[in-house]
Amino acid sequence: MGTHFSRSVAEGRAFMQFIDGRSVDSLSGERIDVRSPSDGAVFASIPASTEADVELAVKSARKAFDEGPWSRMPAVERGRCLTRLFHLVEKNGEELAALESRDTGKPIRQGTADVTATMRYFEFYGGAADKIHGDTIPFLDGYTALTLREPHGVVAGITPWNYPMQILARVIGAALAMGNTLVVKPAEDASLTTLRMAELALEAGFPAGVFNVITGYGRSAGAALSSHPLVDYVTFTGSPITGTAIQQAAAVNNRGVTMELGGKSPQIVFADADIEAALPVLVNAIIQNGGQTCSAGSRVLIEKPIYEQVATALAERFSKLVAGPHDADLDIGPLVNVAQRDKVAGFIAAAQEAGIPLLAQGTVHPDAPEGGYYQPPALFGAVDPQAALAQEEVFGPVLSLFPFEDEADAIRLANDTEFGLVAGVWTRDGARQHRVAKRVRAGQVFVNGYGAGGGVELPFGGFKKSGHGREKGFEALFDMSATKTIVFNHG
Ligand code: NAI
Ligand code: MG
Repeated sequence: MGTHFSRSVAEGRAFMQFIDGRSVDSLSGERIDVRSPSDGAVFASIPASTEADVELAVKSARKAFDEGPWSRMPAVERGRCLTRLFHLVEKNGEELAALESRDTGKPIRQGTADVTATMRYFEFYGGAADKIHGDTIPFLDGYTALTLREPHGVVAGITPWNYPMQILARVIGAALAMGNTLVVKPAEDASLTTLRMAELALEAGFPAGVFNVITGYGRSAGAALSSHPLVDYVTFTGSPITGTAIQQAAAVNNRGVTMELGGKSPQIVFADADIEAALPVLVNAIIQNGGQTCSAGSRVLIEKPIYEQVATALAERFSKLVAGPHDADLDIGPLVNVAQRDKVAGFIAAAQEAGIPLLAQGTVHPDAPEGGYYQPPALFGAVDPQAALAQEEVFGPVLSLFPFEDEADAIRLANDTEFGLVAGVWTRDGARQHRVAKRVRAGQVFVNGYGAGGGVELPFGGFKKSGHGREKGFEALFDMSATKTIVFNHG
């Protein structure tokens, strides 16, 4: 199965990290094996950094911020650097897609879609860099008051393994457009495109120290980075529990944070909805990236009169879904690692044990390599709204269905988890579209559609346990800067 370049890219390569514009190994020389989730085999390695490496990277970013030229460069010049990175990603797109796909197991078309989104981030923030400005404020007679948007300084970005390149791009785009400098620590399971991006950033002309990458485990490199006193701001995407640890670490220095911590996002399907239009979207929202998506649509709430009809149609689609290696480009790839596969399999087993009906399950392709981390998609319904499956983030290809009585019941169910990231509303009733969109607690609400991870220009972030702060769009530029007010007394 599969003969794509993504099967051999980076074979045997010992990757280096990037500190102060140079490609360097970790000080200890220790390495982490890089495995392909499609067959479980080791194909490359990355440095395993610890506190001493973090120290060098943060000092480099500090110096680049404090001494310039980056933070003092005209905004348009910073934007041009990002635009050059856009062109370099385009030029190296096939390699980046292959690298991402082999490293994470995602189907190659998803890797390709991630390259497109990465380019969009650099395009958007490259253009936005010189279009954000402060205000003048009517104040007392004899005074002029104005505001500037100033960068925080050194930003630490700790990123996850599900969309490593896209999430890196949204951090780079917003942080660097505003004139911050960066130290990024990608996830130990998916660091390759971040390391490749550091090479491209050098080629794009970012000055040394503006964008540093250290690789290593969260408990060592990640912990040292988030607690470092020379870091001014921390942005994190990942699990709520690690988000708590990072906020506590940053709190020791009273630093600001942006937290994007996942969800349990509902899609509400009313009886008057265009069901044929909804069905493929409902399936894709949980199948995309094997369900390893913070904004995955993992709960579908269905109005009672159409429950059986929608459940049957979804079951038919789920039973046809096939998992296989990334380069076979089937419905889903393997999950990212053994722990994630076992976690998802554990949710499925526990749900079955609790008697929740398994309506349909996909299959693993018979030619999929033995050692891969495959998990066939599963559809459950009706799910008890208090079950673990209904409340916890599975982060895998598992969809739960819930019948509801009426609009009030739908809103109550939609809001009845600790999360609040994204929601979908399917109805032809215009007034109801507005009512429900306003009452659902979620950072993004899609009406008659759903965009898991989509829309670089759309502000994105959570309520409740899904986190705080906003990424993407113009709003991310506010998170990545602070307002300075200047008051002139001119009499
Ligand atoms: P994680 O949240 O622990 O890892 C994300 C990043 O944080 C990685 O770069 C990791 O090295 C780093 N990290 C871990 N511990 C740290 C610490 N103490 N200090 C600083 N950095 C630290 O996620 P993990 O363990 O890979 O996956 C566990 C679960 O998290 C998944 O099963 C899934 O449910 C959820 N998850 C959610 C994501 C999202 O986008 N919302 C992304 C990845 C995982
Ligand atoms: Mg990997």
